[in-house]
Amino acid sequence: MKFVTKMLVLGLIMAGGIALAQSKAADPDVNARQTLMQKNGGAMGVLGGMAKGDTAFDAAAAEAAKAALIADAAATPDAFKNNASDPASHAKPEVWTNWDDFVSDANALGAAAAAMDATTLDGVKAGLGAIGGACKACHTEYKAS
Ligand code: HEC
Repeated sequence: MKFVTKMLVLGLIMAGGIALAQSKAADPDVNARQTLMQKNGGAMGVLGGMAKGDTAFDAAAAEAAKAALIADAAATPDAFKNNASDPASHAKPEVWTNWDDFVSDANALGAAAAAMDATTLDGVKAGLGAIGGACKACHTEYKAS
């Protein structure tokens, strides 16, 4: 590899590392719960892409995204149970002062995902609103923007 290329690659790796350091929490608990939420975001991206027609409907992918949302919702109370703090966290303190309500918001997401018929595009379109509503309901109360 030429020196210039090496420097370029190194620069890219370092830039990536800095970008990662800014978006990633140092605290392992905070990091884990944010990673769980990013999985939610990924699943919603898959379903939303199909609903909008950006991607072709794929029943297996829709089913996998549904299963991921159900699993993530079930894992949410455990992922948040330690009141860990980190400058990169956007969790409001109310998560822990209103714990039972927070858990019920997580359960509501699981129920909304379970209720979606992922076998047809119409089913996904019909179910997506309630799922997005469940994300939003919890974020409005418990996530700082
Ligand atoms: C029970 C509450 C709750 C539900 C339900 C919920 N979230 Fe979150 N979400 C949070 C909280 C709290 C945070 C902030 C966590 C932190 O930064 O410590 C968050 C953070 C996020 C983040 C940012 C992660 C990061 O890298 O900082 C994304 C993306 C996200 N949620 C997507 C979703 C999506 C999509 C759904 C629905 C499918 C969803 N969430 C459902 C509470 C919830």
